[in-house]
Amino acid sequence: MITWLSEIDSTNRYAAQRSADAPEGSVWAAFTQTAGRGQQHNSWESEPHKNLTFSLLLRPVWLPAEEQFYLSKAVSLGITGFLRQHGLEPAIKWPNDVYAGDRKIAGILIENQITGSGIGSSIVGIGLNVNQERFFSDAPNPTSIVLETGRTLDLQQALPELTACILNRYESLRAGDRPSLDADYHAQLYRCNQWHLFATDATRFRARIVGVRPSGELLLEDEQRQTRAYLFKEVHFCLKADETG
Ligand code: BTN
Repeated sequence: MITWLSEIDSTNRYAAQRSADAPEGSVWAAFTQTAGRGQQHNSWESEPHKNLTFSLLLRPVWLPAEEQFYLSKAVSLGITGFLRQHGLEPAIKWPNDVYAGDRKIAGILIENQITGSGIGSSIVGIGLNVNQERFFSDAPNPTSIVLETGRTLDLQQALPELTACILNRYESLRAGDRPSLDADYHAQLYRCNQWHLFATDATRFRARIVGVRPSGELLLEDEQRQTRAYLFKEVHFCLKADETG
């Protein structure tokens, strides 16, 4: 069930408060989100009434905690599937972004509650830029569906379509179809197998993405043909450095 809120600070925060009594698949969406939370303590900019900002409650109690990155895979693929239906050719930028070309069109913030060895509940927060044409925050490279396609979407029509795409991928995961999620994720991975600059806290190096482990670590092969695995935050793309060579 989708609940539309006219104004809220953060749908993830709101969903967390309601998650104990709500059924799996519940969605809370905001026309205006005043303090949207992003990855790594960033904020999420969204012009009122222009974009989809919502949180989806899942209860993947059947998914081992060490495989929680499969949730991210299923959700990203649901979003890219929706965007393809609307004429875009999106890519998934590891670990949690969806890109159109070299610009970010959607962000995902998944907050899991681990109970024992499994995931008791998961709040999947998604910000998808839909009808916004100008961005004012310091987010480096935002875009939206309207900027990419020239077409606006009705938010209240688009949201059930998008959640259906996500739940469809989630059900494949529940059914155990990891091979198709893995193959589709790999095929849609931003800059996969291309040589680019990456950076850790210590150094910058040229490497190419060769895969993502089930645990979510990014596998990079460097110019000496060494492959290393990186956790979230241990490595990032040098997008600007690439642009200026
Ligand atoms: C990112 O940093 O890329 C993740 C952004 C996630 C933003 C969404 S908007 C709806 C939901 N509620 C929040 O407070 N954040 C997420």
